[in-house]
Amino acid sequence: MTPRAFVLQQTRLSEPSLVPEFQLYLADEAVPLWQATEQVLERVNVPPPYWAFAWPGGQALARLLLDQPNLVAGQRVVDLGAGCGIASLAAARAGAASVLAADIDAFAAAAIALNAEANGVVLSTTTDNLLGQPLDADVLLIGDMCYERALAEAVLAWARPAAAAGRLVLLADPGRAYRPTDGLAAMADYVVPTSLDLEDKTERHTRIWRLLSGGTPS
Ligand SMILES: C[S@@+](CC[C@H](N)C(=O)[O-])C[C@H]1O[C@@H](n2cnc3c(N)ncnc32)[C@H](O)[C@@H]1O
Repeated sequence: MTPRAFVLQQTRLSEPSLVPEFQLYLADEAVPLWQATEQVLERVNVPPPYWAFAWPGGQALARLLLDQPNLVAGQRVVDLGAGCGIASLAAARAGAASVLAADIDAFAAAAIALNAEANGVVLSTTTDNLLGQPLDADVLLIGDMCYERALAEAVLAWARPAAAAGRLVLLADPGRAYRPTDGLAAMADYVVPTSLDLEDKTERHTRIWRLLSGGTPS
């Protein structure tokens, strides 16, 4: 089965709570989908199906960009760890010159393409790991990627030079354990309704930070 067929089989179009402007192919429960992923790939210990959910970070970024399109209008945008692609869709809808939705999970790339089609949005996807590669963009979006220490550190090590070079780097975090604590300026706050199946709360306070070019304490 292709990733596209799997996404269509396992999800249904629904509205993310904070961004009703979009209809996305999303799942209701994580564990059965994770098990189905292992079956279709005939492997165990596969990554969780992050792509089937609109995480608080992505929702907050999408809300910000739809409400303040000037942040990305006419700009080249990269959405790192795009997941279902919600922030990418919002950047495209806000008038970005180009949007690259980057996620190393092939199911995410399929889901993002389907979500773009469903919402009449044009963007590109890649499953290349951009970490460590030169960033060819004006704006970098990072939604909800501070949930593992090694990943958060690698993402920040890659993103900080981009901020230092004058790129707008927006990091959205709902209180994950490994969010950096310095070199950030708070930009916006959202309360994102969440499912108890995914989170230990029914809502997550999510803050969008701008990475500072210098590294001044937040
Ligand atoms: C918690 S999800 C967040 C998805 C989306 N940004 C959102 O907020 O809804 C984290 C995503 O990062 C992706 N990811 C992990 N490591 C990555 C890497 N090195 N490059 C690109 N994506 C990565 C995962 O596959 C997953 O889809």
